[in-house]
Amino acid sequence: MVDLLSKAPTASASTEKMNRQTGTSRFVRACLRQPVDKTPVWLLRQAGRYMPEYMAVRKHHTLLEICKTPGIASEVTITAAERLGVDAAIIFADLLLPFTPMGVDFEFLAGEGPVVHAPVRTLEQVRALRTDRVGELAYVAEAIERVARHFSAPRADGDQLGIIGFCGAPFTLASYMIEGGSSRNYIETKRMMYGDGVAWPLLMEKLVEVLVGYAAQQVEAGADVIQIFDSWAGALSVTDYREYCLKPSAELVKRIQALGVPVIYFGVDTASLLPSMRETGADVIGLDWRIPLSEGWKAVGEGCAVQGNLDPIALFAPEDVLRARVREVIDEAAGRPGHIFNLGHGIVPGTPVESVIKTVQWVKEFTAR
Ligand code: CP3
Repeated sequence: MVDLLSKAPTASASTEKMNRQTGTSRFVRACLRQPVDKTPVWLLRQAGRYMPEYMAVRKHHTLLEICKTPGIASEVTITAAERLGVDAAIIFADLLLPFTPMGVDFEFLAGEGPVVHAPVRTLEQVRALRTDRVGELAYVAEAIERVARHFSAPRADGDQLGIIGFCGAPFTLASYMIEGGSSRNYIETKRMMYGDGVAWPLLMEKLVEVLVGYAAQQVEAGADVIQIFDSWAGALSVTDYREYCLKPSAELVKRIQALGVPVIYFGVDTASLLPSMRETGADVIGLDWRIPLSEGWKAVGEGCAVQGNLDPIALFAPEDVLRARVREVIDEAAGRPGHIFNLGHGIVPGTPVESVIKTVQWVKEFTAR
C-alpha cells in the first residue's frame, strides 16, 4: 500500500507538489481506502466532444495540437473539472502520445480514430522501437504543472482537487501499434502474442520502460494518482491475460507505485478478469457497468478500492431513471471506504451536459456523511 502522507520528500519534487495537502483530498483518500466526508466523483472523458467549451477550442486546433500545447491542454482540463464540479481533474492527453518518441507515427482521422501508418508486426520493427526519448513527452508534464498550480489551494469546501495523470497499459497500447488502429478481433495482436515468443515480451518490456518514464514525469509535475487504461483487456480470455499481459501490467503498476502515488487500473468488459487484474497490485480497480458494483468489488477483494460504474449511456435517460441508476451505484458501494464514483467507460459525444452536472451533484447529495 502506498502511503502518501509519509512519503519521503525528494530534492527534485517541485515545491508546488510538496505544498499540496494530499491528506485533504477526498479523491486521493478514497484511492487509499481512507474515510471521506462524501464519495469522490470524476468522469472518464470528462473533457471531450460532448462539451461545448471543448468543441470551441477544437474548432481552432487539432486534437494533437491541444495535447501538445500545455497552455491549451491545461485550460481544457481545468474548464471541464470546474464546469462539472468534480473532485479530480484528469490531464487532457491521449493514450497514443508515447508512440511518437518510440518512433511510431500516427494521426487521428475524423470519424476513424487513431491510424498508425506502419503497424508494428515483426521482430525487427519491435527491436527498432526507441525507449530513450521519453523526454520528448515533457509537454504533458508541463500541462500537469499548470493544472496543479491552478488547483494548488483547497476549494471552498476545504477539499483539495485531485490531479490524475495517465498512460495506457502494455496490451492496450500494443493493440494500437500492431493493428494500426482500433480493432474488433485483435487478430494481428494475438498472432504476435501467441506466435512470437521473442517479439511479444520484448514489446511489452519496451512499452513498460517508456510508460514508467512517462508516468514519472507526470508525478514529478504534480499528478497525485496515475490511471492506467487497459481499455481493451476485455478482449482477452482469462488464460491469455494471465499468460501474456498480467506480468507486464503488474510490473508497470509496481514501478509507478514506487514513484509514491496510488494507481488506478481500468479496463472495459473485464468481469471475468477482475481477480487477475487485482493481482497487478493496483490500489484501485476501475469497473465497467456490466457487473453490479458490489459483485465487482467482491471479485477484486475488499483490500482494494474500486472506481465506477454507471453506464455512460444512462446519461441519455430521463432524469428519474438516471437518478435511480446513480443511486443504485451508491447503494451498491454501501458506504464502504474506497469507492470513487465514475462511469463504467467514457462520456460519448452528444451526452447532455446538464445530465452530467446533475449526476455529480446527486453523488455529493446522496453520499454526504
Ligand atoms: O477528459 C478526458 O478524459 C479526455 C482526455 C483523454 C483523451 N483520450 C482525449 C481524446 C483520455 C483520457 C484519452 C484516453 C484514450 N485515448 C483511450 C483510453 C480511454 C478509453 O476510452 O478507454 C483510448 C483508447 C485512446 C485512443 C483514442 N483517442 C481513440 C480510440 C480515439 C477516437 C475515439 C473517438 O471517440 O473518436 C481518440 C481520440 C480522442 N482522444 C478524443 C479525445 C477528446 C476525441 C477526438 C477529438 O477531440 O477529435
